[in-house]
Amino acid sequence: MYLNKLDLLALTDEHKTPLYVYELDRIQYRYEQLIGMFPEQDLKVHYAIKANFNPYIVQYINKLGAGIDTVSPAEIKLVQKLGVKSEDIIFTANNLTNEEIQEAGQTGVLFNLGSTSELDRYGKIFPNTKVCLRFNPDVIAGSHTKIQTGGPLSKFGILLEHVEEVKAICEKHNLSVVGIHKHTGSGIKDQSAYLQAVENLLSIITPENFPDIEFTDFGGGLFIPYSPDEQEYDYGSFASAINERLEALHASYGKKLKLYFEPGKFLVAECGNLVIQVNTIKDNNGHLIAGTNSGFNHLARPVMYDAYHHITNLSNPDGELKTYDIVGNICETGDNFASGRELPEIREGDYLLIHNAGAYCFSMASNYNLRKLPAELCLLDSQVVNHSPVVSDDVLIDRLIANVNA
Ligand SMILES: Cc1ncc(COP(=O)(O)O)c(C=O)c1O
Repeated sequence: MYLNKLDLLALTDEHKTPLYVYELDRIQYRYEQLIGMFPEQDLKVHYAIKANFNPYIVQYINKLGAGIDTVSPAEIKLVQKLGVKSEDIIFTANNLTNEEIQEAGQTGVLFNLGSTSELDRYGKIFPNTKVCLRFNPDVIAGSHTKIQTGGPLSKFGILLEHVEEVKAICEKHNLSVVGIHKHTGSGIKDQSAYLQAVENLLSIITPENFPDIEFTDFGGGLFIPYSPDEQEYDYGSFASAINERLEALHASYGKKLKLYFEPGKFLVAECGNLVIQVNTIKDNNGHLIAGTNSGFNHLARPVMYDAYHHITNLSNPDGELKTYDIVGNICETGDNFASGRELPEIREGDYLLIHNAGAYCFSMASNYNLRKLPAELCLLDSQVVNHSPVVSDDVLIDRLIANVNA
């Protein structure tokens, strides 16, 4: 199998597994697709860096023209060190301490605040500044309950009915509200739910409520298929429905506003591949289990969100089809990439490719069980343009025990 015209098994030989391999041209394809969806709008994309903070990828996306959506002071620091300008960064953290507000505020980025408490505390520290407000769109949608961020019980965003309280806080600290934001959830298949969330958000944007608005931000959640059974989303009808609603808003607001999206998965999910190796085949009375050299410490989405990741047997693509549980080496029963998955016969030593591993995979990885993190390769123009190597066990252990005898 070739990725970006490079032989994947040769890369695997050289760099060892588990190995993350990113195809950057997929990111460019999706970025241009998104930009092309809204020729009528003054569109700006802020990449949700939480999906994948590989510095080469962040810089690549910024060079394509996107700004960055950040959720922690360290993410702001990282992207600023990578050369992203403050005016291209939005800060959408939740449950901030005053120290974090102070630290992030000094960087000059625009805060997107999702609670009246944080708005008030921000206003006390940085009065007379501009802010964006994150509202809860009062719609529950997303591919799993753990990544649905709207609805009455959500910790995210300000309830729409709290507009008056928000206005009073802004007036008290002379805050100018330049953006209104919502993020409904991740992997939203249901177009009508997304549009309902947009409508709910737009209902509070009036000159009386917020006279200084410059943009509306509809967050992330743009759907891309993970399984071969899922269809490409109908982005044509999505864009025209959004355009229709924005046209009405711009007419009633009396001014054309910029449109922001902050996609994570849409931009980077498909570019990622995790190559792992099978070392143990177990036959439990006909129930086949393929044990690998990776685990949910490297790719947690199946365990966290019951997420489907397509898996290919790289070494034996034409083998007889059999049904397997594909599991990791972590000392937990739930450490499972796939259950009851039909694949060409898997033999000990075979390499498996886990697809769509670019978003919320390496960025959620950990050293659980004191296992190393995989190396990462970025491919572009048939070359390896970046290599983040493995941190060895010895370095990891030295870091852990550095302070024990101090
Ligand atoms: C505030 C915010 N914006 C954007 C995103 C990106 O979402 P997605 O990766 O589904 O596009 C998230 C993801 O959780 C988010 O919380």
